[in-house]
Amino acid sequence: MRVVLGSDHAGFELKEKVKETLTSMKDIVVSDYGTDNAETPVDYPDIAREVAMTVAGGKADKGLLFCGTGIGMSIAANKVPGAYAAHVCCEETARLSRAHNNSNILALGGRTTDHEKALEIVRIWLETPFEWDRHLNRFRKIQLFEEETGRALAGKDSTGRLVTFEHPLIKHKIGMIRDETTPVKVFRELVQEIAGLMVYEITRDLPLESVRVKTPITEAQAWSLAGKKMAVIPILRAGLGMVDGILQLIPNAKVGHIGLYRDPETLEPVEYYCKLPGDIEERDIYIVDPMLATGGSAAAAIDLVKRRGGRRIALVSLIAAPEGVEKVHSRHPEVDIFAAALDSHLNDHGYIVPGLGDAGDRLFGTK
Ligand code: RB5
Repeated sequence: MRVVLGSDHAGFELKEKVKETLTSMKDIVVSDYGTDNAETPVDYPDIAREVAMTVAGGKADKGLLFCGTGIGMSIAANKVPGAYAAHVCCEETARLSRAHNNSNILALGGRTTDHEKALEIVRIWLETPFEWDRHLNRFRKIQLFEEETGRALAGKDSTGRLVTFEHPLIKHKIGMIRDETTPVKVFRELVQEIAGLMVYEITRDLPLESVRVKTPITEAQAWSLAGKKMAVIPILRAGLGMVDGILQLIPNAKVGHIGLYRDPETLEPVEYYCKLPGDIEERDIYIVDPMLATGGSAAAAIDLVKRRGGRRIALVSLIAAPEGVEKVHSRHPEVDIFAAALDSHLNDHGYIVPGLGDAGDRLFGTK
């Protein structure tokens, strides 16, 4: 286990004592981020930030912070997203802050906690695992709250991203599906493959947690996805063509379905089917549709998912037109749009140019 330590002048002596104990333990690798004496005053937020960034960034498994009371350090560390610092004064709260709260940083008071007791607190805290089954849901809510607050504080005009893909494999396969001579079977396979390749980029920020595994040689520290819940929601029917490619990489995602048709009079999309996972409000949601053309269906699908409680929504398309991107972002400015390619414009019939024609017809051979 990689443990990073930090203190101000008031926590220096306790930090040194804890460091001495930890460095003698064979499974622990200790890094000390200072300070290096008890005489020169330093500002605890500076040290707390460095330690918290290291832990939240996955470069250490746990952090230990020491100041006069432990309070300032915990307040400062908790400003870093992904840092869950617990200010602890006794053995029982040390245990519970791990078992129930999954704290990854422990903050102790060098002037307020007896140093022998502090050593015991550190031992218990490092040894206690998180009780995933009972408390995972609550911990996830903290993470969700953190993400939403960050977005909200970023300001009203915070816009979702348009992410396009430059990977040669994706570009190559997009070229093949554009080709009108590509047969239905190959087209269908390519759509799944491109959707699967896009998943790498889309899931880039998934949270990880540190785990211990036993290799055939020895015990090792490794990473595991921190159990984030996801939902893939194809817009019928063409969206179905992307689902399996995504599920191959994230098999635990739940799949919802949305059916929309265009009212011949108003030309507005009308819902004819909607079945979503029951806990949609807790999930990262990927609405998928190969073509983002006018954006009417995509914007309506996002509306629908939001009305059912969905909060964290992204749109995934193979080919997007600027008109569709504009429409979705004008109605849903916070939604990220992932598109393998961004094309030139729509023609008079609402088809993307150059595009690939009607994705549904080409997937299902119904032309
Ligand atoms: C430093 O004197 C002291 O205020 C600091 O170490 C800490 O207790 C803050 O919470």
